[in-house]
Amino acid sequence: MEAEFDQRSQRREYQGAALNRTSLAADPVAQFALWLDAAVASGIKDPTAMALATTGPAGMPSVRSVLLKHFDAGGFCWYTDYRSRKGLELAANPHAALLFHWREWDRQVRISGPVERLSAAQSEAYFQSRPVDARFAAAASLQSAPVADRKTLEKALQALRRRHPNDGPPRPSEWGGYRLHPVEFEFWQGREGRLHDRLVFQKGGPSGWRVSRLQP
Ligand SMILES: Cc1cc2nc3c(=O)[nH]c(=O)nc-3n(C[C@H](O)[C@H](O)[C@H](O)COP(=O)(O)O)c2cc1C
Repeated sequence: MEAEFDQRSQRREYQGAALNRTSLAADPVAQFALWLDAAVASGIKDPTAMALATTGPAGMPSVRSVLLKHFDAGGFCWYTDYRSRKGLELAANPHAALLFHWREWDRQVRISGPVERLSAAQSEAYFQSRPVDARFAAAASLQSAPVADRKTLEKALQALRRRHPNDGPPRPSEWGGYRLHPVEFEFWQGREGRLHDRLVFQKGGPSGWRVSRLQP
């Protein structure tokens, strides 16, 4: 049976402040930092959550949420299991797209570019900074592989805890970070009457980035 859903009742106005070349930072990483700071300061849940899109065999896209852990001019970083679906897809095609949506601000940011693994030392430093339960959960699981039932997972976790009663588990060598080097950013600001602002930075040109406006 088809679920009834009246999309008209969900319609709302977007009333964000104008986004234009004068209000835009000269550097897209600085502009991203401004918007992320605003999202964090307003206390919304998971402001660093982003959709990460990769491609699988025959170009089939796949997407999932991950958390941005750090970023700078060199790139945008997250951590995961290299043996997961996204890990295998990135090994075959090391390019990805990220999407942030801060609905409370009527804002969206798209970022895309080539991806590389962080060094083992960087992955180790981040792994060791995680709460011990998160370290055990990561080490007990082969992310994205099928498992018979939840009990099997819980047993694997208990066995790992017994082997490391006093400290955390070692980092699995296949657990670590990635860095996406942006070649393109799009900043989207929802505006009244659906005449939204879209400003794109593309790598290149004398100042390092070419800026253009797209139709909504
Ligand atoms: C808000 C949110 C944040 C998440 N953060 C991460 C993360 O940082 N790293 C990660 O591996 N999975 C994270 N996940 C789980 C992933 O969405 C996904 O289920 C998992 O990584 C397996 O994806 P894959 O099979 O496509 O590789 C998060 C899920 C949500 C809903």
